[in-house]
Amino acid sequence: MTAIAKEPPAGLRELLAFYADAGVDEALNEAPVNRFAEAPPPALPKGGDRVPATAREPERTAAPASDRARPAQPRQPSIDNAAARPTTVPDEAQATLARDLARQAQTLDELREAMAGFDGCNLKFTAKNLVFSDGNPEADVMLVGEAPGRDEDLEGLPFVGRSGQLLNRMLAAIGLDRTSVYIANVIPWRPPGNRTPTPHETEICRPFIERQIELIGPKLLVTLGGPSAKTLLATTEGILRLRGNWRSHTTASGAVIPAMPTLHPAYLLRTPAHKKLVWRDFLEVKMKLREF
Ligand code: URA
Repeated sequence: MTAIAKEPPAGLRELLAFYADAGVDEALNEAPVNRFAEAPPPALPKGGDRVPATAREPERTAAPASDRARPAQPRQPSIDNAAARPTTVPDEAQATLARDLARQAQTLDELREAMAGFDGCNLKFTAKNLVFSDGNPEADVMLVGEAPGRDEDLEGLPFVGRSGQLLNRMLAAIGLDRTSVYIANVIPWRPPGNRTPTPHETEICRPFIERQIELIGPKLLVTLGGPSAKTLLATTEGILRLRGNWRSHTTASGAVIPAMPTLHPAYLLRTPAHKKLVWRDFLEVKMKLREF
C-alpha cells in the first residue's frame, strides 16, 4: 500500500510562522494539550497538602534534551520528567556558594569548570549548554552582554545569532574582531523563551562574571545593554542616559577598569535609528585604546 502524505490543516503553516515571529521556538511537551477539554476536578492530596507546581502544570516544564529527540511515548500517569530533575529555588545560600566558587577559581578553566558544576541557578536546567565566552583571553577589550539566546544556547558561544552578527560588524567598524576582544554574558545560561532573567538569577550569576572580568583583566570593558550596565557598573540609571559616558567597574581586588556602556545589538536590530549612537560609543572605545 502506498502511503499518502497528508496536507497539513489549513492555516497551520501561518500559525507556526506567527509563533516563530513571536519568539516561540521550542516545543516544551511531547504530547499536545487540548486546552478546550473540560478540566477534571482537582484531586486533593491526602492531608490537604499543596499540589506541587510540577504536578499541576507539567506542560510548562521542558523535557530534557535527551528526551526531545525520541519519538513520542505514551504518557506515564505518575512519572513526570521534571520530577527527576533538580529544581533549585534561587536563594542567598546559592549566591554565597557562587561567590565562594568564583573566588576559588584561579584560572578561566577552573572558573568554567566551577560554573559547569554549579547547580544553584534554575536556568541551567532548561539550557542546553553553558555559554562561557568567546574571543581572546589576552584581549584589551572585554564585552559583556545580558544572557544567551537560542543560537548561543545551541552553540555554547556568546553572540553567534543575529545580534552577534551585528556586533561583529560594529567591532569591524573600529578595527576589532573576535581575535582581538573577549566576549561573555552576565548570565551564562539561556533563560527559557528568552525571558528577562530575574533579579535573583542575576545576583546568583554575578560572582561568576565578576570573577571572569578579574581573571581576564581587560584594559576596557564594554557593557552591551541596560542589564549588563546595571549589574557591572553599580548604577540604576537607564541605558539611554548611561550610554556614551565612561564609567568604571571595580573588581573584588580593587582594580578599576574604565567601562563604556552602550546599547545592545538586539535593541539596534529593532531600532536601527539608534545605530549612530553606538557608532559614537565605539569611536570612544577606539580612541581610549590609543591611550594604552
Ligand atoms: N544577547 C546577549 O546578551 N548575549 C548573547 O550572547 C546573545 C544575545
